[in-house]
Amino acid sequence: MISTEEAESITTLIQYQHGFVISKVMFTACELGVFDLLLESGEPLSSTTIAECLGTSPHGMELLLGACVALKLLRTERKDEQVLYGNTDLSSLCLGKSSPKSQYHHMMWFSESIYMNLHYLADAVREGKNLNEKSLNSKKFYDGIYRSEEQMQRFVSCMNGTWSLGGRDVIAAFDLSQFPQICDLGGGGGALAKECIYLYPNCTVTILDLPEVVRTAKKHFISEEEQWIHFIEGDFFEDLIPEADLYILARICHNWTDEKCAQLLTKVYKACKPRGGVLIIEMVLNEDRKGPLLVHLKSILMLALTEGKERTPSEYSTLLSATGFKEAERKKTRLFDAILARK
Ligand SMILES: C[S@@+](CC[C@H](N)C(=O)[O-])C[C@H]1O[C@@H](n2cnc3c(N)ncnc32)[C@H](O)[C@@H]1O
Repeated sequence: MISTEEAESITTLIQYQHGFVISKVMFTACELGVFDLLLESGEPLSSTTIAECLGTSPHGMELLLGACVALKLLRTERKDEQVLYGNTDLSSLCLGKSSPKSQYHHMMWFSESIYMNLHYLADAVREGKNLNEKSLNSKKFYDGIYRSEEQMQRFVSCMNGTWSLGGRDVIAAFDLSQFPQICDLGGGGGALAKECIYLYPNCTVTILDLPEVVRTAKKHFISEEEQWIHFIEGDFFEDLIPEADLYILARICHNWTDEKCAQLLTKVYKACKPRGGVLIIEMVLNEDRKGPLLVHLKSILMLALTEGKERTPSEYSTLLSATGFKEAERKKTRLFDAILARK
């Protein structure tokens, strides 16, 4: 006989074993357009109707919908002896392409690219670096993404999508009104730049990112009214960093080795105005490294895809103080931490 405690642990183990199936069920429902169809229809639909509309087999769709119900991504109701399926609040909010805080592109990015890269995880752990031909280092990772216009658009959409959920919170974590000139290094599609202007209408924001990203951002992600965001095409390791009061480094350090982070932060320190600062925005590991699980999983993704890793608060403090920044302060938001340090 196994004890209740053992039985619970075994259930957890089996759930872990199936973790990737959960992801794939959610990705597949996104890819086939289940959540979009239910959003557009405005009323719950039967499995047969959903299968017909989306051109799938009735059998496959019925099983997919069942799994989504168990995952609370869909809900059911009975009408005239029929089971009808509708979106839950969460899927209406996040999983349709046109949902207000859509994570659709992020799901597709994970499904089409990240999932495949994880196939080589054992090799990456053996070697301490990823062995995927396309992404031997972070530079090659970005070169790989930016090879096709479509992939790049998807990547920028998914970066922006994250900030539709928590962007305002990280920018509001500190009073940034003392920094009139802000430079968002690797600022991608401009989601955080827009939050800066929303919260601090008098500040100016410059984004420095790779040329292909800047062109995509301007073409697809910046509206007529948002043309006040100033863009610079460049490489933050190779090119001049413009002078500013505050530099935002959001999800940049986790892509790079300690040496590369030190190189970048040193350049930022030199370019920074006196009493200016740097705002690092990252998911941060607990000091004892026992969690959070999500941040450990992100660290694994960094190993599989880039040359970086997630870090603890003291690792960020060490990086900052080694490059001259002082008075580092950290504020937690729901998913991301904001770390502000001064020149
Ligand atoms: C993980 S994304 C984060 C984007 C954005 N900061 C955010 O949080 O949504 C990393 C960004 O750094 C940019 N990047 C990578 N290497 C770069 C380099 N050498 N110079 C400038 N930007 C770079 C990428 O193009 C991408 O936009």
